[in-house]
Amino acid sequence: MSNYNVVVIGSGPGGYIAAIRCAQLGFKTAIVEKYDVLGGTCTNVGCIPSKALLDSSEHYHNAEKAFAEHGINTTGLSIDFKKMIDRRGNVVKQNNEGIAYLMKKNKIDVITGTASFVTKNKISVAVGKGEKTEIESDKFIIATGSKPTKLPFIEIDKKRIITSTEALVLNEAPKHLIIIGGGVIGVELGSVYQRLGAKVTVIEFLDKIVATMDEDISREMLRFLRKDGMEFLLSHKVTGAVVNGNEVTVSAENKNGEKIEIKGDYCLVAVGRAPYTTGLGLENAGVKLDEKGRIEVDGNLQTNVPGIYAIGDVIKGAMLAHKAEEEGAFVAETMAGQKPHIHYNMIPGVAYTWPEAASVGANEQDLKKNGVAYKSGKFPFRALGRARASGDLDGFVKVLAAKDTDEILGVHIVGARAADLIIEGVVAMEYRASAEDISRMSHPHPTYTEAFKEACLIATDNRALNM
Ligand code: FAD
Ligand code: NAI
Repeated sequence: MSNYNVVVIGSGPGGYIAAIRCAQLGFKTAIVEKYDVLGGTCTNVGCIPSKALLDSSEHYHNAEKAFAEHGINTTGLSIDFKKMIDRRGNVVKQNNEGIAYLMKKNKIDVITGTASFVTKNKISVAVGKGEKTEIESDKFIIATGSKPTKLPFIEIDKKRIITSTEALVLNEAPKHLIIIGGGVIGVELGSVYQRLGAKVTVIEFLDKIVATMDEDISREMLRFLRKDGMEFLLSHKVTGAVVNGNEVTVSAENKNGEKIEIKGDYCLVAVGRAPYTTGLGLENAGVKLDEKGRIEVDGNLQTNVPGIYAIGDVIKGAMLAHKAEEEGAFVAETMAGQKPHIHYNMIPGVAYTWPEAASVGANEQDLKKNGVAYKSGKFPFRALGRARASGDLDGFVKVLAAKDTDEILGVHIVGARAADLIIEGVVAMEYRASAEDISRMSHPHPTYTEAFKEACLIATDNRALNM
């Protein structure tokens, strides 16, 4: 007889949410995590600590650059970097404890150790030096997440050449941080250290940054990050990085083969993340991977082995915490015989720069590529009373709607509080609202949400009220 109905492997946002939903649905559930803290990449070395540092550094940046305009004097301003990093640690710890409490509250057994399949119904968990325990379960959910991608020609020494994991716990703020990759990690962690006084140089292979977002957002973000002093070398492929004492030399070449060398004191490699299945013994259960090393799943997120499911970063799709969470709940409900559904097109993406950038649905380049007839409404924040009051004038809301039906197809926001504003786009799209539907709803004044209404008015009828 099995020990459990469901065993979840990995306690990131995918795994712990799956475990909670399984327990709520009456399954006897356990969660196995190889580290002695719960929460996975997101809580320990991802979303939460990066946002803690983004918030701390933004307070400093505003005190240094923006407070004077509001009549606030900050003479003698300085940074206690150790305290900032320690605060980050405390924020992480509170979240770890919160998840541990949720496991207890939902009567989920937490097993600390590395899980490896023995058969399709049994895992062995390495719980200490040489010690192993075997656990049987009717069903398994694999939620083992991802790890930073490495470039084969660069050795990450974790001291001077680092990944995002080390960049979140440095002992000192870099003087010159060279970042390989102008994706989300590059612009977020670049922002942290640029605000704290470092020179930041981002080297990006493509001719744009945050390439998965709408091109208007990518252009606007490049403009304001450059305005803040961040340097970007676009269309440059990094070819090497070597450490000499406290110095790192990064070499790159442009499309014409012209070579450059840049010297800094730290180099952050942020060129994507790869699914993590090392040591999981998938071959013992017969679970297949796809051509990119991700666990292959069907429409129910079940692997080729009945009863074994996989969710989150370890399968295809956006590597986002909320995507993993939705999949965790989806699998639990599917196992319980329910018929849940995930609209993958409506999973929003956010970059927590300042101003923030957020998107949901189709972007303009995709609509063009797919020959979809569309209309666009774009409203700048600088035309809003709320933005003038706070001084956050950069950015816009852009709404893309079907030319014939006016249905909203995509929403792209760059500007103050975009991360929170985007949910209006998600709700609108989930309910298949037209731009006119939204433009006829009362939006509180003065708020940033008015830019959403105005963008919808422009998309429907080109009749903004406040511009
Ligand atoms: P993970 O969170 O990676 O968790 C997997 C867990 O499985 C880990 O704890 C691991 O130790 C454990 N594990 C692996 N193998 C085994 C095994 N054999 N036995 C037992 N345990 C095992 N996403 C957002 O949506 N918003 C953000 O703001 C954001 N910021 C980020 C910032 C950074 C710097 C990084 C690196 C990522 C960020 N992400 C963000 C992405 C987000 O962290 C991931 O998408 C998310 O954590 C994926 O969740 P998961 O549950 O699939 O896996
Ligand atoms: P990414 O995929 O966003 O960006 C990597 C960038 O590196 C790409 O633009 C790529 O062109 C570039 N690159 C690759 N090889 C290169 C080379 N040799 N030289 C120069 N440039 C090169 O990956 P990133 O930033 O590492 O983030 C990983 C994942 O973490 C993302 O997929 C994202 O989903 C998640 N994440 C999410 C956050 C959020 O939701 N706010 C924040 C941080 C990470």
